[in-house]
Amino acid sequence: MTYYYGAAYYPEQWPEHTWEPDIRLMKQAGLNATRIAEFAWSRIESSPDCYDWTWLDKVMKLLHENDIGVVLCTPSASPPMWVVDACPGMLNIDVNRIERPAGARRHYCPNNPEYRLHSVRIAGAMAQRYGNHPALIGWQIDNEFGEGVGPCYCDVCAAEFRNWLKEQYASLEALNEAWGTVFWSGQYNSWDQIKPPMQGSRPFAQPLIPGLRHNPGWVLDYERFSSDSFVAYQNLQENAVRPHTDKPVTHNGMGLASNNIDYYDLFKTLDVCGYDCYPSVVAESYSASSRNMSHSRNLTGKPPWILELSSGGGFSTWGGARPQAPPGALRLVAWHVFANGGEMALYFQWRMMAKGAEQLESSILELDGVPRRKYEELKRTASELKRLEPWLSQTQVKSDVALIFSYDHHWAHSLKPFSNSFSYSDQSGALYDALVAKGLNVDVVSLEADLTKYRMVVLPSPILMTPEIAAALKSYVHGGGVLLSTFLTGVKDWHNVGIWDRPLPGYLDDLFGVNVVEVDPGCPDLPTRIALDTGACKCEVKHSVWSDVLETVGRDTDVIGRIVGSYRAGEPVITRNRAGKGLAYYLGAWLEKDALSTILDEVLNAASVLRSPIIVPEGVELIRRTGGNLDVTFLLNWTYAPVTLNLNGLYTDLMTDRRHEGVFELAGRDVAYLRKES
Ligand code: GAL
Repeated sequence: MTYYYGAAYYPEQWPEHTWEPDIRLMKQAGLNATRIAEFAWSRIESSPDCYDWTWLDKVMKLLHENDIGVVLCTPSASPPMWVVDACPGMLNIDVNRIERPAGARRHYCPNNPEYRLHSVRIAGAMAQRYGNHPALIGWQIDNEFGEGVGPCYCDVCAAEFRNWLKEQYASLEALNEAWGTVFWSGQYNSWDQIKPPMQGSRPFAQPLIPGLRHNPGWVLDYERFSSDSFVAYQNLQENAVRPHTDKPVTHNGMGLASNNIDYYDLFKTLDVCGYDCYPSVVAESYSASSRNMSHSRNLTGKPPWILELSSGGGFSTWGGARPQAPPGALRLVAWHVFANGGEMALYFQWRMMAKGAEQLESSILELDGVPRRKYEELKRTASELKRLEPWLSQTQVKSDVALIFSYDHHWAHSLKPFSNSFSYSDQSGALYDALVAKGLNVDVVSLEADLTKYRMVVLPSPILMTPEIAAALKSYVHGGGVLLSTFLTGVKDWHNVGIWDRPLPGYLDDLFGVNVVEVDPGCPDLPTRIALDTGACKCEVKHSVWSDVLETVGRDTDVIGRIVGSYRAGEPVITRNRAGKGLAYYLGAWLEKDALSTILDEVLNAASVLRSPIIVPEGVELIRRTGGNLDVTFLLNWTYAPVTLNLNGLYTDLMTDRRHEGVFELAGRDVAYLRKES
């Protein structure tokens, strides 16, 4: 298997005489891939049907001659001026009904029929010309759909939204019922009365109108519709490209919850998951990016392509000081990608641009194109990658633990937060962090994933519930699985309306053996704490942010956490219920780091999840890759200080062939690649 290592390159912005030396430098560093053309539409087609392929032909040829593989992008993220003129009404309208002007990027509506035709035409033309080019390794459709923009709220979208709703609900009566429009006399008498809302999910859709509170069913469906619009838009381009190429087609997503698109849907038809991975080059933490890597790894089941990777800072493009990448950082982030399952790592970007909105954005080469320390660091990493390739290709990142990430849950929490003190994404991140800190691989997967592959499933605050999802969870537990669900489980139905005809957690009360009878966001004025008793650990911890008020109703429901102090003293808040061959844990309270870790130890032990024998301190990332008889551990020290670990076994360093047993030193910002000897 070939691993791809390189950087995004923008030859259209540079005079021709720079191409050859720039590309030669890539080759001399041992790089073997690049990504080009995602914003180059006006250089390819400067006016209607006036194509200029000569420059791109030359660039493709040069790259091929230097053994640099190309991910070629369709350029629809930045429609040229003449396209905007040719498609009246194609500009994106934001949630506040402000038109996004041409002159930047992503100024389009994915539903605009004329713009769709232009996008399909340019994608098809590029594929026809380069679909079989020897330099080509794959396609990227558009660039980071929706980034910084969010959904479109134009008249075309309004009409398409109504069509989408007709398909979902068939009748207006059904829609009125599902959304609960009786509230505040919101009932619709005709489909035409339904408009796009003026409120959406954060961060893009903050309404300017004070006091505006929309129906939760309406806003949630608009998020779903908008996501489907981008998926449909992508599929059109994908279908235009595929007949001309047999290379993988992908898109560059932004990490699991960065914009308003359901990546499970978006990547369903794509060959690999593309993801733009921007871990901080200076921070001592890696977990947010690790969670995104896990999600990307599991989206298509194939090793993800990292189409953009942090290259540091320096000049700030977006305001605020952006730290430069200290020595070792670019190697560290590259190994973070490859160890976590990536097949490709392309920095953003090869050479600092002089022009435009992103002028002086961070890069491997500065403006003058002279190779310096960052270049040398890539050279070293490229040679390490060559050496490690056989071990990477024979091993995979496998996991016994799944963490569910659902866009419907994310949107429901974000559109109608019940407390500003936590977010779905933060809750999911806290659970992920606490698990990986124990030296575990964790798979971030969808609600539809095959859960039977996992010993343990963690389900963060699944606020929306259906009988079907509940049945799947029950079948998993009854079959022997161990499930942990956290507070705010099954509060509302799939239309974002409270479940009122049965006890909460909706459809799951019998699985957990509890009823949620009230909820309590925690009050600093009341002396409420939580007493944990897992058998292995008895302690009292803080109560803050949130707790569900539970009553146990199951015959086999054990209480492992109770409220201490205040009027709630003695109430259960964390429970364990035996159901069939498995166990269902209900974590009814938000817990701080140490307490969460204690509860997770209890659940991991109950699920017999094996951990790595190597215990890592905070700031050291451990990724275990296995395959056949091979067991390879990557250790990445994100801290600046050296750490001393106990390997608890015999290992060979795959880079130096030196053997290590017991105490092992890892320098600050360094990486180790250790094969376990049996
Ligand atoms: C990405 C984007 C790139 C560039 C980069 C700057 O999100 O895809 O085109 O803008 O950020 O950091």
